[in-house]
Amino acid sequence: MTDEAESGQDHARELRTAAVIGAGTMGRQIAALIAASGRPVRIWDADPGMLASARGRIDAETRTLPDLPRYAHHQFRLRPPADVEGMLARISASESLAEAVSAADIVIEAIREDLDTKHALFAALSRLTPDAVLTTNSSSLPSSQIAPAVVDPGRFLNTHFFAPVWSRPMVELMGCGATRPQVMQSVARFATSLGLVAPVVRGDSKGFIINRIWRAVKRESLRVVDEGHADPADVDRLWMLMFGTPYGPFGIMDMVGLDVVSDIETSYQRVATDPADRPSRVLEEKLTAGNLGEKTGRGFYNHPEPEYLRPGWLTGDDEEAD
Ligand SMILES: NC(=O)c1ccc[n+]([C@@H]2O[C@H](COP(=O)([O-])OP(=O)(O)OC[C@H]3O[C@@H](n4cnc5c(N)ncnc54)[C@H](O)[C@@H]3O)[C@@H](O)[C@H]2O)c1
Repeated sequence: MTDEAESGQDHARELRTAAVIGAGTMGRQIAALIAASGRPVRIWDADPGMLASARGRIDAETRTLPDLPRYAHHQFRLRPPADVEGMLARISASESLAEAVSAADIVIEAIREDLDTKHALFAALSRLTPDAVLTTNSSSLPSSQIAPAVVDPGRFLNTHFFAPVWSRPMVELMGCGATRPQVMQSVARFATSLGLVAPVVRGDSKGFIINRIWRAVKRESLRVVDEGHADPADVDRLWMLMFGTPYGPFGIMDMVGLDVVSDIETSYQRVATDPADRPSRVLEEKLTAGNLGEKTGRGFYNHPEPEYLRPGWLTGDDEEAD
């Protein structure tokens, strides 16, 4: 048996212990999710302050979990942890990257979204863990772009989790082009055992599946307003009535933050082949005015009580609507 085949077999093993690198918004939630499944998980962050506060923040965040959405006829495997103390006891903050990954079957990267930073981390991980499955939680970088930094990219893929993980029980898996099938299978089993729905993205797709679809919705919503066909409130009203959601595309953009939305739009526009795919006027006006959505109190709506929450707003009966 060749070394690669031996190694591939090894990766079909059950993933029992995990390390999460990055203790920010996503790293903390991913660590909590893994610990809630009964597995030990070590976390590490380059910022000592983030690392020191991580377990306390996970504790607070897990005690105020949003409800899972309710869908008739569907039972989610994901359950918020009944024993928060037990869950926390399985999470340890490591003093070094080497210590964090030393016993890990799977290492999940959730550090800042920057290709050079991710390359440097995966080069270090390649030296420290010749054997572990390695994954990135990047929201816009396909693993094929990070793979050149990984020694043995057959063990490397995207695991794209969603925030908040407890109310969005899903993860997209996407290989880097060299990922061994056994590794995809182990990670798919691992994800399912966390209680997540885990579709595999075939091939290489910027934005995976749902971010790509969501990007198309954002682009067209902004374009309809830029062209003067509707205002944001009417786009959202129609969307909410059509799809039965509690908010529409502009409501969600306000939640994400209009600066973040703009960065993501720019990253798609850089590779767009459609000349009409260019920066949105209405979005640029909001940014110029410093109105970034929930985080600044104003965006397409006024916060913290956006207009779409008012009784009568959806039906247009609210005199103060819009
Ligand atoms: N926030 C979301 O909703 C979301 C959803 C899906 C995917 N993602 C992706 O997850 C990743 C993390 O996003 P986030 O929102 O948690 O970011 P964040 O800014 O909240 O946290 C990032 C953490 O990484 C740490 N860090 C930065 N460089 C590091 C390094 N070299 N080594 C170790 N730690 C380092 C920072 O100190 C910080 O604590 C990004 O790739 C992002 O695209 C985010």
